[in-house]
Amino acid sequence: MRIPRGIIDDLRWSIVAPSTPEHAADRLVLRPAEREDLPATSRAHVELLPIGLFPSLGARFVRRWHRTFLTSRYGVGVVVIDAAAPQDEIVGFVLGTADHAGYTTEVAKDRRAIASLALAGLFALVVRPRVALRVVRTRFRPWARRVSRRATVRTRERTESVSAPQVAVMTALAVRPDWRKSGVGMLLAARFVELVGSSGARWVEAQTSTGPLGATGFYERLGWEAGQARPTPDGDRVRTYRLALGGAGWTSTA
Ligand SMILES: CC(C)(COP(=O)(O)OP(=O)(O)OC[C@H]1O[C@@H](n2cnc3c(N)ncnc32)[C@H](O)[C@@H]1OP(=O)(O)O)[C@@H](O)C(=O)NCCC(=O)NCCS
Repeated sequence: MRIPRGIIDDLRWSIVAPSTPEHAADRLVLRPAEREDLPATSRAHVELLPIGLFPSLGARFVRRWHRTFLTSRYGVGVVVIDAAAPQDEIVGFVLGTADHAGYTTEVAKDRRAIASLALAGLFALVVRPRVALRVVRTRFRPWARRVSRRATVRTRERTESVSAPQVAVMTALAVRPDWRKSGVGMLLAARFVELVGSSGARWVEAQTSTGPLGATGFYERLGWEAGQARPTPDGDRVRTYRLALGGAGWTSTA
């Protein structure tokens, strides 16, 4: 099932025109993600994007993590809903930030958010001993190294005052398998780019696995520029894709 380009354009502006109810596209609503969507987005993330540490901590942890995007002034969240389903069902979602550095600084300062994430993470590890072992094996040493380096970096930052360009990050994008290849992924990515486009970000980045669970072909089809692939602590390989918002590219800014 393919959604015609004209309908995609309508949806981009959040217009739902149920003129021909039998057509699948008329069932779809594009709208900002809300708190009530978090149980569905977190379940979808764990199920459809099982890459990296956070999804392996389970939907409860991911729900709290997703919440930080909705509460941050730098966060962006959009969902596509199947309005014809008995209870509005999420067909796909995108979450990310318009200014990733701003978002991480804000979350790091929010003691409630950090405590909530830490508690959920700890609980998840207690009931998932295998994941806990993986964390100790793959994350503990790099984290410790980073903490000890932080003091040096802070001192350097104070003296050098480097101004880094603002970067938007599309952290998670997923579409339910039964709706794939019908234009929903492209629609969500386009809406995300539109929303962060006026924020002052120089470019948008997204990371995807180069393995069978990844979406390198999708980003290439969308014309995003491919960066280097790199290994992850979990033994996967990820590639970063970038879309320039103000003429920035790998060569001029990387
Ligand atoms: C990647 C994903 C979001 C794409 O969603 P989708 O709704 O199927 O994408 P669209 O239908 O809008 O596809 C847009 C174009 O990309 C192509 N495309 C989509 N997925 C592709 C893939 N994995 N490889 C190659 N091309 C792909 C489509 O064929 C279409 O091209 P066309 O216009 O020439 O026909 C979806 O496959 C998904 O949820 N994957 C699992 C999660 C994931 O990997 N997310 C990305 C990393 S954050």
